[in-house]
Amino acid sequence: MSTGTRTRTQVAIVGSGPAGLLLGQLLHQAGIDAIIVERHSAEYVLGRIRAGVLEQGTVEVLDRLGVSSRLHAEGSIHEGVEIGFRGRRHRIPLKTLVGKAVTVYGQTEITRDLMEARAACGATAVYEAVDVELHDWAGISPKISYRRHGVAYEIACDFIAGCDGYHGVSRRSIPPPALNIFERVYPFGWLGVLADVPPPWQELIYANSERGFALASLRSPTRVRCYVQCSLDDRVDDWSDARFWDEFRRRIGEEIADRVIAAPSIEKSIAPLRSFVVEPLRYGRLFLAGDAAHIVPPTGAKGLNLAVSDVFYLHEALRDFYRERSERPLEEYSERCLRRIWKAERFSWWMTRQLHRFPGDAFAARMQETELEYLFESIAAQTSMAENYVGLPFGPSTDSLRTHAAA
Ligand code: FAD
Ligand code: PHB
Repeated sequence: MSTGTRTRTQVAIVGSGPAGLLLGQLLHQAGIDAIIVERHSAEYVLGRIRAGVLEQGTVEVLDRLGVSSRLHAEGSIHEGVEIGFRGRRHRIPLKTLVGKAVTVYGQTEITRDLMEARAACGATAVYEAVDVELHDWAGISPKISYRRHGVAYEIACDFIAGCDGYHGVSRRSIPPPALNIFERVYPFGWLGVLADVPPPWQELIYANSERGFALASLRSPTRVRCYVQCSLDDRVDDWSDARFWDEFRRRIGEEIADRVIAAPSIEKSIAPLRSFVVEPLRYGRLFLAGDAAHIVPPTGAKGLNLAVSDVFYLHEALRDFYRERSERPLEEYSERCLRRIWKAERFSWWMTRQLHRFPGDAFAARMQETELEYLFESIAAQTSMAENYVGLPFGPSTDSLRTHAAA
């Protein structure tokens, strides 16, 4: 193996998912140099189908970066969301209740927009970097090393941002005794299908049926994204398109079922459901952000949105460090993130509990029915759900915190 170059940057970012790419752009806008190192190719990253629902706070961050023109042209604004139960659909009017809406625009498209913005500003992103390792993050001179096409590279930096998802190397580099892990694994997964067909629904439908959960979502006026709760033992090959659509129709409610077109899938995958938080998010000069630090079950549509608030806080803390040599926002990063993370964990756990079938727990089944009845009858309960679904506020920026302190 030949030895490649040694380079230096201010912030080395591991992972080019939404967290890593967005942090890269936020730092670039703040005049801070960063290099992104990603294990897969850019095409592979763009091929992953994941989130679809964006909170207003997420859209505002993308607006500030000037990377949202396609989002506004092609995304759709949803002012309500529906819950299906016992054959009926109940609408939660988000905008009416809390004055905010959500935007439906695929994570893949955000990733593409951010990759293009990064290329346009000439910032470095290294794809197909294997054997990424983190070094000396507990001291003041951290480094990351990797191999690419058989050549070894090293990047010296001031800080490392671990934005490499749940299975990444960053969290694994920290000695286990230093990690406080909180975890809940659910006894089912989601089987998702993407298909090019106009959706026969205008707003997302989260359905709790006797056969299990189903979600009717979309990506555009000509593309649907649908999910059904499945067994953890199921494999994608067990589910032909015909079997998927048959099951989806049985769960989503008669009125929609009659209009569902069983179009061929262009992507089909199974995701296990998990709640997971690691505390703290800072280890010396290594900062975890996004799925590297926490996982929510997708029922609340919070994972990508949380990754955005984490990196927003992280860029503010790094910006203050370089501008004013102020360590305080870096010290507060973990706590600031965790306050928002735990509330999103709570909401995602609550949505998951209310909408899925948990076999063999009769008491839980009665509580679920009662909780949903209460939700449909109570404006207060709907307002609480709406407030969480559209996204809790990011909280004051470090700028306004400083203004407060000075006043
Ligand atoms: P990732 O997207 O996982 O990116 C991490 C990157 O790091 C990857 O590109 C990976 O290849 C790279 N990497 C990993 N290991 C290494 C390594 N060793 N070296 C270098 N690079 C590495 N969220 C929402 O907000 N709304 C939704 O509607 C929603 N729906 C979802 C539906 C499903 C089915 C799923 C599975 C998730 C959904 N999410 C949703 C969650 C959302 O997709 C994730 O929370 C989001 O991708 C997190 O972004 P990230 O950048 O932190 O991690
Ligand atoms: C999606 O469109 O992929 C989606 C929408 C809402 C969710 C989860 C996933 O809660």
